[in-house]
This record gives sequence, C-alpha cells and structure tokens, in this order.
Amino acid sequence: MNLHNFIPKLLIFIIVQVHRTNSEGFYGTCNTPFSCGTVSGFQYPFRRHQDPTQCGYPGFELNCDDPNPPTINIMNITYRILAVNPTNQIMTLVRGDMVNSTCPLDLVNTTIDHNLFDYTSSYTNITFLYGCPVAFNPIGMIGSLACGSDGTGLVILAPGALGPGMCKASVIIPSLDSIGFMDPMKLVQVLQDGFDVRWKVESRPCADCTGSGGQCVYSTSTRLTKCACPETSLLGDSCSKLNKTEVSLSPSSSSSPGINFLP
Ligand SMILES: *[C@@H]1O[C@H](CO)[C@@H](O)[C@H](O)[C@H]1NC(C)=O
Ligand SMILES: *[C@@H]1O[C@H](CO)[C@@H](O)[C@H](O)[C@H]1NC(C)=O
Ligand SMILES: *[C@@H]1O[C@H](CO)[C@@H](O)[C@H](O)[C@H]1NC(C)=O
Ligand SMILES: *[C@@H]1O[C@H](CO)[C@@H](O)[C@H](O)[C@H]1NC(C)=O
Ligand SMILES: *[C@@H]1O[C@H](CO)[C@@H](O)[C@H](O)[C@H]1NC(C)=O
Repeated sequence: MNLHNFIPKLLIFIIVQVHRTNSEGFYGTCNTPFSCGTVSGFQYPFRRHQDPTQCGYPGFELNCDDPNPPTINIMNITYRILAVNPTNQIMTLVRGDMVNSTCPLDLVNTTIDHNLFDYTSSYTNITFLYGCPVAFNPIGMIGSLACGSDGTGLVILAPGALGPGMCKASVIIPSLDSIGFMDPMKLVQVLQDGFDVRWKVESRPCADCTGSGGQCVYSTSTRLTKCACPETSLLGDSCSKLNKTEVSLSPSSSSSPGINFLP
C-alpha cells in the first residue's frame, strides 16, 4: 500500500472516530468537578445554573456569582453555600438575607426540603417575632435584637416554632441545640456562620458510574441518576456494563482506533 494514500485515510478515520465520540450522547457535556463562586469541589448532584439540566439532580442548581459564595434556592429561600463536602454529602448554608443582617429580612420560615436534605446535628427551632406590641414578653423569651435600618425595628427571639400570635410575623430558624438560649448575639453569630445539611441523593449510582469512567447525569424520563459513557449515546448504570454489551455486539470496535494502524 502506498503511504501517501494511507496517511490521509488514517487521518480521516481518526477524525471520524473523534467526531463520533464527541457528538454522541451526554458524555462530556457536564463539567465535573467544578467550582462555583468562591467554593470549589462541586460535583453531581450539583450543577451550575447555566449547565444543561441533565448535569444535575433537580433542586441542586447553583448560581455562581464570582467573587461571592455560590447560592442555592431551597423552598423559596436563597442560601449562600459557605462550604461543601461531597464525600460526606454535607454543605454549610447561611440564609442569604442574613449575610449583612442580624435578623432575617425576608419574612419566610427556614424550612428545608426534607425530601432532599437533613440537618446534620441536633438542632432547635428559634422564632423571630416581628412587629410585636410594646412590652410583649413571650414565654421563655430569649431577648430582643435591633434589626437595622430597614424598618423592621425591634425583633423578639423566642425558643421553639411559634406562630405570629399578637405580632405581625414570625420567622422560624434552626439553630444548634448546643448554643443554649443565654446570649442572643451568640445565637445570631451561629446563624451567620451557617448550619450544616446533608443531601440525601443516593451516592451509590454516581459512584458506580464515575468509578467505571463515566459521568453522572440525571435522566428526566426515569427520574434516576444515570451514567453517560464515552463512545456511546446509551445511558446505563455504569460504563463497564455498557462496554461489555458493546464489545459483544461489535467485537472489532476498538477504543484506540489509531494505534492498530500505526507502522
Ligand atoms: C415559592 O414561590 C412561588 C411563587 O411565589 C409559590 O408559588 C410556591 O408555592 C413557593 N414554594 C414554596 C415551597 O414555598
Ligand atoms: C453585604 O454588604 C456588602 C458590603 O456592604 C455588599 O457588598 C453586599 O452586596 C451585601 N450582600 C448582601 C447579600 O446584601
Ligand atoms: C422545628 O419546627 C418545625 C415546624 O416549623 C417542626 O416540623 C420541627 O420538628 C421542629 N424541630 C425541632 C427540632 O423542634
Ligand atoms: C412560620 O411558621 C409558623 C408556624 O408554622 C407560622 O405561624 C408563621 O406564619 C410562619 N411564618 C411565615 C413568615 O411564613
Ligand atoms: C472495556 O472493557 C475492556 C475489557 O473489559 C476494558 O479493558 C476497557 O478498558 C473498557 N473500555 C472502556 C472505555 O471502559
């Protein structure tokens, strides 16, 4: 065979293979692991807002706003993510409206979605009561805080999950059990340092996938974590399984097409 003929054929063959690999399936469509704002180490089930939806599990969409911490929306509250530990599936959250304020400014309760998250340590509920009558003094009252220039005025802190009662609004917030109720300022400091939640998305399917050389994707049709593999558009549970099937279907297909032909 003439070498001048062979080289272009080989190049075309390689280009076709590369093109096939890149255009097929979901493999390579998601960046992982990735950093977002000031925090790095995110991976599936998280995805960035601008990533394709299959890159993350529903409810784990991040807004990355360099140079600020990433934010996530849980039950209509924006939280800042201060840290993430993918191994233990734990992240540290602080309410976005408490970043510059000792009191919640959005008058919504902090209720995490218990389908997706759990508190990691034992916590206790604390209620912030807004717009209470003068000299209002609920049972077990912890103290009161001046809530800044935004007009919310004096806010009363009470233990437990209380409704507004005689006040205009109540906002329930989790705090660590261990803090106790002695010092309102310390309590607030803890709220601003953040609280830990564990995400409950099962880690096994994604670990099996990445362990076999694949990338985790979310399949909206099955509502499950699936595995995207190189060189196939099929989504499976792991790439080794897919690979075996493929090999038995077409034993001649090689993952390194060029090498066999090199002189
Ligand atoms: C979130 O807000 C939207 C629109 O304000 C509302 O329809 C929805 O019920 C809220 N969801 C939760 C979980 O509070
Ligand atoms: C908090 O205050 C800083 C400095 O004043 C400001 O740059 C930032 O935007 C504020 N953050 C929020 C969430 O309000
Ligand atoms: C906190 O309050 C919520 C209701 O807002 C309740 O479901 C939850 O069990 C309470 N948690 C604790 C530790 O008391
Ligand atoms: C918070 O929850 C309490 C008790 O569940 C409720 O009475 C109160 O209205 C809620 N506050 C807001 C702002 O939704
Ligand atoms: C496919 O399977 C073979 C043998 O089981 C293995 O050597 C090869 O690395 C696998 N290829 C991929 C892309 O996983």
